[in-house]
Amino acid sequence: MNITIAGNGFVGKAHQQVLKYNGHGINMIDPLLGPKRVYDYSDTQAVIVCVSTPSAEDGSCDVENVADVIRDTDPSIPILVKSTISLEGWRGLMLAFPEHHITFSPEFLRAETAVEDFRNISHLYLSNNDDFNFWHNLFSEVFTGLKTSIHAPEALILGKYFRNAFLATKVSFFNQIYDLCERTGVEYKDVASIVGSDERIGDSHTHVTPDRGYGGHCFPKDTSAIVHTADRFDVALELIESSIAYNKRIRKQV
Ligand SMILES: NC(=O)c1ccc[n+]([C@@H]2O[C@H](COP(=O)([O-])OP(=O)(O)OC[C@H]3O[C@@H](n4cnc5c(N)ncnc54)[C@H](O)[C@@H]3O)[C@@H](O)[C@H]2O)c1
Repeated sequence: MNITIAGNGFVGKAHQQVLKYNGHGINMIDPLLGPKRVYDYSDTQAVIVCVSTPSAEDGSCDVENVADVIRDTDPSIPILVKSTISLEGWRGLMLAFPEHHITFSPEFLRAETAVEDFRNISHLYLSNNDDFNFWHNLFSEVFTGLKTSIHAPEALILGKYFRNAFLATKVSFFNQIYDLCERTGVEYKDVASIVGSDERIGDSHTHVTPDRGYGGHCFPKDTSAIVHTADRFDVALELIESSIAYNKRIRKQV
């Protein structure tokens, strides 16, 4: 099958690396690959959207890149959105492209270990749109023993955001332990290992880096986007807002 992947970044390249070994023809599209690799969605049987969804000026998730790909894709072709996308962004796309067959699947790989993480996925989340079976079958070919969970797209969208927001807040929490340890002369590593060794808490995201706090591709933009979404519905996500403000204060490079 010819599969087009839009977005040649961490997520797109990981999909390309893994899917190409199953005999699929993979066409990568990305403006950064040059003019010939932009917007050519002819001769494809499936489109996987891995484009960037940056923060808009107001902190919301900008879904224009996703909209561009859908607009250029024939409505009969199944589209899988792996890009992180906001609730209001998804609802807007559903209204703008009612004829298209769009499935959402949140991606959980980490940028530093993208290909390895993707190669090792054991659990695929797909939205309950009409052609989720198409995507389930494609990924089941590649990953043996893959568990697939089907949910409403909006539950998957919030699930993806709140996983990242929880981990970002956990980073802030441990950075605040570090602040107190520094001030009191107590060894942070000892305290962090005692707290993190409770398996209900876990030791991931307890490492305090020289840059302090969190940065990278996803945590700053995703925490900002979920706070913005909640704000539109008059809900104040105060814990996450506080984590964002604290992170801005302590972070040396964002
Ligand atoms: N990096 C991660 O760890 C990670 C993890 C999970 C989810 N995500 C999400 O996946 C998406 C992609 O992330 P990434 O880290 O691969 O981003 P990235 O910035 O590394 O790559 C995205 C690519 O999309 C390209 N692009 C933008 N508009 C395009 C268009 N209209 N057509 C074709 N290509 C276009 C950009 O030029 C860029 O090369 C984002 O929504 C991100 O939030 C990222």
